Amino acid sequence: MRYFLDSHVKEDPRLLDVYVEAKRCYAEMDLCQHNFHHVIRDLYRALMIAASEEPVKYNILIPGVLLHDIGFSDPGFKTEGHDAVGAGIASKILRSFGFGEPTCHAVCHCVRSHKGKAELPETIEAKILYDADVLEKSGAVALIHGGKIICELGQTLDEYLRKEIEDRKREIDRGFYTAKAREIDNGSIAKLLDLLLEVQEETRRTRLDFVVSEDDLWLDKSAPSAFLSPVEGYVAGP
Ligand SMILES: [Fe+2]
Ligand SMILES: [Fe+2]
Repeated sequence: MRYFLDSHVKEDPRLLDVYVEAKRCYAEMDLCQHNFHHVIRDLYRALMIAASEEPVKYNILIPGVLLHDIGFSDPGFKTEGHDAVGAGIASKILRSFGFGEPTCHAVCHCVRSHKGKAELPETIEAKILYDADVLEKSGAVALIHGGKIICELGQTLDEYLRKEIEDRKREIDRGFYTAKAREIDNGSIAKLLDLLLEVQEETRRTRLDFVVSEDDLWLDKSAPSAFLSPVEGYVAGP
């Protein structure tokens, strides 16, 4: 079975406006992982899941998925979270295309709850978005996306592993909201958690060379910075 946007756009042409604006915004953000390709993957999964869930309001689900990671365009995401700041940005975009208050409110709930952190998904549209986004992290392929996240957020390998392991454990404990997402996952998120734990174990126990830093090469820890900006009176160590 294939899933298309055409009929939904025919029913509400403003969805195309949101699609084009979202595509423009993500292109401007130019991120390695949280870009329009990721949004398209989530949107496809959301349409797959929605086909098994009735009734679904597509004029809420589709903008919700399209705008769910728009919060990365605001530097405030580092402190407030991209889910929380993204809801405000999504609301402004929707209003500019003439969406009314109830729709804006429902889409904002989808964006705010897509991580299950700022709030938990309560509507079927928010639950589908949550599941579609969690499925991006299920299976071995997520390790490739992980490399892109490390680049995008400037994390160390250890920081990335600690955060991803914590997030995957929480998602596994919570479970998926929809039966279709559980079927698509088929245990793959647990498989990814095992792989992340294996990499963490490897880099902590046997392959320290993968996480070595510049400091590890110097007995005198002030040496590297002294070479970059020489300090008067600096004397090289033994
Ligand atoms: Fe996100
Ligand atoms: Fe996402």
